[in-house]
Amino acid sequence: YVIGIDLGTSAVKVLLMNENGKVCNEVLKAYHLIHEKSGYSEQDPKEWIDKTISALSELVNNFDGDINNIQGISFSGQMHGLVLLDKVGNVLRNAILWNDTRTTEQCRQIYDVLGKERLLNITKNLALEGFTLPKLLWVKQYEPEIFEKTAMFMLPKDYLRYKMTGNIYSEYSDAAGTLMLDIAEKRWSEEICDLLGIDLSICPPLSASHQYVGTISKDIADLTGLAITTKVFAGGADNACGAIGSGILSEGKTLCSIGTSGVILSYEKRNNLDFSGRVHYFNHADENTFYVMGVTLAAGYSLSWFKDEFAKNENFEELLEGLDSVPIGSNGLLFTPYLVGERTPHADADIRGSFIGIQGSHKKIDFVRAIIEGITLSLNESIEILRESGKKIDTIISIGGGAKNDVWLQIQADIFNAKVIKLTSEQGPAVGAAILAAYGCGWYNSLDECVDVFTVEEKSFLPIPENVKKYKELFKLYKNVYRQTKSLNE
Ligand code: XUL
Repeated sequence: YVIGIDLGTSAVKVLLMNENGKVCNEVLKAYHLIHEKSGYSEQDPKEWIDKTISALSELVNNFDGDINNIQGISFSGQMHGLVLLDKVGNVLRNAILWNDTRTTEQCRQIYDVLGKERLLNITKNLALEGFTLPKLLWVKQYEPEIFEKTAMFMLPKDYLRYKMTGNIYSEYSDAAGTLMLDIAEKRWSEEICDLLGIDLSICPPLSASHQYVGTISKDIADLTGLAITTKVFAGGADNACGAIGSGILSEGKTLCSIGTSGVILSYEKRNNLDFSGRVHYFNHADENTFYVMGVTLAAGYSLSWFKDEFAKNENFEELLEGLDSVPIGSNGLLFTPYLVGERTPHADADIRGSFIGIQGSHKKIDFVRAIIEGITLSLNESIEILRESGKKIDTIISIGGGAKNDVWLQIQADIFNAKVIKLTSEQGPAVGAAILAAYGCGWYNSLDECVDVFTVEEKSFLPIPENVKKYKELFKLYKNVYRQTKSLNE
């Protein structure tokens, strides 16, 4: 057996997987977000540790085999979050998360000091509020006494692994989202650290995702019931692990993952393409490969916001009932999902969403369909960028909330103009983490070999030409809304 842990934004998920790739049990423990001010989003790292320990002990309690048969553990985690440690390893302040947008000024500072072109050369990514370096610069500027005491910065799941093993490591796929990693060279950029006044010594040593990084500590073994010999492997960023769990391990394979945020992610072998920062370009958890990715910040979040505010007593299934009775275009209602700003393609933390074309005859279900179409149209902007760069996108594996409803899956096929595949079981990032542990334990000769076991197609949805045509028109209109509403948000 192996355990995969996904340290998400709203909860930690731990799962137990056997040698046939079957998920035997999983435990979820939620924690909360701290929003002290508008645009701020933090979490207490202690809560991550407490909830992970309690989830693991529940998992172990329910396991009736020999504990020594749980051979390995690996991790997946929310990207970009900043955890600061002092020289004895104590946390100095709450973690600042990926969806925190306080750092616009620091992003500007990065461009001023380094220049956009140089930043893109080294990190392949733009300076976005969500990334780690701007957060570090924010602390340096506004909490200098904390910055002074900082001996190490860590990413969320790397901190959790440190607390479970006592060993400090980061790994390439998560380090790629800091804006401090030289993506092609796979090392911390001395130039970036130098120019921005960050001491290189606060950057953790780097490893590959399937690399063995120690065993669990005696304390953790006592608290969880796991054997002290349980091997720990580094793990990867949640998007990289989600891609592994869905078999995105060869050129042309593309993932659509709709959770709180939505992601279009495509495998890439080359390290030297130029997307001019229009999409993220990160190291994969599959060694020496990459992926390019576009992000819609409020994907599933747009729908859960609507449900919580206007249909509190319904579950998602009830909310989406009758979705196919509304025609394409939601009877003239159009939604842009910029509830918390937008990443791809606008990199704009200030833009806000809109419903356009509301009329007296609209029903709640028109709004629901408009939200679903708006989320999918937004993700299509990422697909458009990838296609413009010459990438062939004709088959998309859909996972997450967006894969739970067949009508939505058909909408994806029609808007993306590609075959959309749903897998037999939910292959989230925790499964990707478990696969990394299985590979690390030597169960398989390659990640490709593991993935063949896990990614079984359940259904596929083909684009319907007539619908594709209608959505092409709607997409033009959709893209116009950003330009037209931009000035309203200034
Ligand atoms: C990726 C990103 C999010 C988080 C969510 O760039 O910010 O997908 O990783 O967990």
